[in-house]
Amino acid sequence: MDLGIAGKAAFVAASTGGLGLAVARALAAEGARVAITGRRRELAEQVAASLPGAVAIAVDLHEPDAVGEAVGQAEAELGPIDIAVLNGPGPRPGAAASLSAEDLAGAFDLLVRPHHALVSRVLPGMRQRRWGRILAVGSSGIVAPLPNLAMSNTGRAALAGYLKTLAAEVALDAVTVNLLLPGRIATDRVAELDAAAAKRRGISLDEVQLESRKTIPARRYGAPEEFGAAAAFLCSAPASYITGVALRCDGGLIRSL
Ligand SMILES: NC(=O)c1ccc[n+]([C@@H]2O[C@H](COP(=O)([O-])OP(=O)(O)OC[C@H]3O[C@@H](n4cnc5c(N)ncnc54)[C@H](OP(=O)(O)O)[C@@H]3O)[C@@H](O)[C@H]2O)c1
Repeated sequence: MDLGIAGKAAFVAASTGGLGLAVARALAAEGARVAITGRRRELAEQVAASLPGAVAIAVDLHEPDAVGEAVGQAEAELGPIDIAVLNGPGPRPGAAASLSAEDLAGAFDLLVRPHHALVSRVLPGMRQRRWGRILAVGSSGIVAPLPNLAMSNTGRAALAGYLKTLAAEVALDAVTVNLLLPGRIATDRVAELDAAAAKRRGISLDEVQLESRKTIPARRYGAPEEFGAAAAFLCSAPASYITGVALRCDGGLIRSL
C-alpha cells in the first residue's frame, strides 16, 4: 500500500531513541522528511544522517518556549509541518493515594503541556492547508490504569480527553487526531523498568520478563518496528477517515473491547 506521505514534513517529538525513533524510521521509509528531536544532539545528528531528508534538532521539550522554537527550526529546513507526533518521557511511578498537588501539576507539565504546545504551533497551518496528521504516543494505562503509575494514568488520560475533543473540532479541515497506545514494546525504557523491578523484588531479570510476557496473549514484547508501522499507517493518506481513535499496539494485553 502506498501511504501517500512521500515529501510530507514530519516533526517527531523525542525521537533519538525508543518509540519516537521507531516512528521516525517508519515515516522516513515512506518518504516523509522527518525532524529528529531529543536532548542528545550527537545522537539526533547520527539518526538524522541515517534517514533520507531528515534533520536533527537538539531540544529539551520541557524547557519554556522550546517546542515553538524547535518547530520553527524544523519548518525552516523542511517547510510547514504536515505530521506531528507527540511523544516524550514518562513520569516516575507512585500510588494515587500519595499523589500530591505538586505531583499532579508535574504530570500535567510532563504529559499535557509540551504536547499542547506542539499542537498549538502546527494546527493552524494544517487546517489552512486542509491536510494534517496529529498522533500521540499514549499508553495502555489510558484504557486500563496501571497500578502504581498514578501520575502517568492521570496525565495521559487528560491528554486523551483533550485530543478526542480536538479530533471532532478539526475533522472538517481534513486533520486527523489519534492516539497509539503501546502495551510493552521493547525499548530502553522498558528494559530499565524491568531491571528496576528485578532489583526491587530480588529476582532475576529473566523472571521479571517471563512474568510480564505471561500477561500478554502474544507472549512477547512488541518490537519498536511493529509500533512504528502502526504509527505510519495512522499518519498516512489512506487513514484519512480514522480520527479520534486510541489504537492499541499491545499484543492483546488489554482484554476489554
Ligand atoms: N515502551 C513501551 O512499551 C511504553 C509503554 C507505555 C508507555 N510508554 C511511553 O511512551 C513514551 C516513549 O517511551 P520509550 O519506551 O520510547 O522511552 P525511551 O526508550 O526512554 O525513549 C525516550 C525518548 O525521549 C527522549 N526524551 C526524554 N526526555 C526528553 C526531553 N525532555 N526533551 C526531548 N526529548 C526527550 C529521549 O531522548 P534524549 O535522551 O536524547 O532526550 C528518547 O529519545 C514514554 O512516555 C513512555 O512512558 C512506553
